[in-house]
Amino acid sequence: MKTINLDIQHAVYFAEKQYEALKDESVKALATLEEGTGAGNDFLGWLRLPSEMPADLVERIEATAARLRQNCEYVVCIGIGGSYLGAKAVNYALADSFDDFYAPKPNEPKVLYAGQNIGQDYTAQLQKLLEGKKFGIIVISKSGTTTEPAIAFRLLKEQLEKQAGKDAAKDLIVAITDANKGALRQMATEEGYETYVIPDNVGGRFSVLTPVGLLPIAVAGHDIKKLLNGAADMERETLHPSDENPAQVYARLRNALYQDGKKIEILVNFDPRLQYFSEWWKQLYGESEGKDGKGIFPASVNFTTDLHSMGQWIQDGERTIFETVISVRKPAIDHRVPMNASDLDGINYLAGKQIDEVNKMAELGTLMAHEDGGVPNIRIEIPTLDEYSLGQLIYFFEKGCGISGYMLGVNPFNQPGVEAYKKNMFKLLKKPGYTD
Ligand code: PA5
Repeated sequence: MKTINLDIQHAVYFAEKQYEALKDESVKALATLEEGTGAGNDFLGWLRLPSEMPADLVERIEATAARLRQNCEYVVCIGIGGSYLGAKAVNYALADSFDDFYAPKPNEPKVLYAGQNIGQDYTAQLQKLLEGKKFGIIVISKSGTTTEPAIAFRLLKEQLEKQAGKDAAKDLIVAITDANKGALRQMATEEGYETYVIPDNVGGRFSVLTPVGLLPIAVAGHDIKKLLNGAADMERETLHPSDENPAQVYARLRNALYQDGKKIEILVNFDPRLQYFSEWWKQLYGESEGKDGKGIFPASVNFTTDLHSMGQWIQDGERTIFETVISVRKPAIDHRVPMNASDLDGINYLAGKQIDEVNKMAELGTLMAHEDGGVPNIRIEIPTLDEYSLGQLIYFFEKGCGISGYMLGVNPFNQPGVEAYKKNMFKLLKKPGYTD
């Protein structure tokens, strides 16, 4: 079933020549990806995750989620980068916008995130919130040795054991890590935690459709089967080269725009719940393409909010930018602008309209203004914000990223640059083995 709609008519003419010239290269890049003949081809496990997901794994994830939902008011998802962004993106997109302000209900724990920063106050404040509360932990690290989640896990494990007792704590901790390697695997084996494996051939930023993303998403009460169905349909839709293959078209167009001097891509939403989807997307494209002195800089904005901050730059700043808009066709709730007798605010002309109609006209007006101002506009429309559409979007962007990276001439599946800060930090902290 085709549900996402990619509209390139307001972008392609900015780099028509480059777009035409890149056709064969986009076909070749797709084939390189599908046939596994390119750089980083030992990290292509994500390509078939949706269609080859074992049914018994999905059932086990749902059973673990049900157990945590039954026994916890809060479930803390510990991880950084690819080990938390996908789950947060989906959970945030599907939640009530004010979810954080409602108290947890029975069998509906709140999912919180830790280990994605080293903010001392953040960690202390999280622990204060969890004082005396029934909570569980999903600790996620592919390498099993990342510093940020290791610090958070040490603190929260200790707190959980104190509050619930060591035996009960063991059943409230789930570890998702490598099958054999790393400190987290060793700890999970010694302590007897339930574990899930991150496949060797799936890199962190491509792992949202493994237990890394699926378990925290299921714990938040969302339907992971629908998410996987959406992704599987997109897997089929993007399998073969064609001008109808949305991932190939997107990869080809963004490379054409890049060659035309558009060095920055902003992912735009008109629904604030997509804010963390943009964070996931930024990691996916930033870590995959930003290497060898190349790569489009992935940025994001929330509209109309940021039209009142970044809008000026986008409209009139250096012309090195293009935008990709995710537009949700239909909101879930009917909600209209009321009539007001005095009309002091002067908005009675909107009375009776759905608020979304105003939003859609803001979107159209923005597109027209930006296009006039020299900003190419790619538009991706999804019917509603639900599991199925998000599954489609996730796979679409992952596939687009793989093709685009190969077109750019980089290995989209490594991240050598991420090690630089770690080496310096370890030396400064005098970590054994890093003292020179
Ligand atoms: O995409 C990646 O590979 C990274 O962002 C990792 O996900 C991130 O560094 C966390 O690594 P790990 O899961 O090994 O703790």
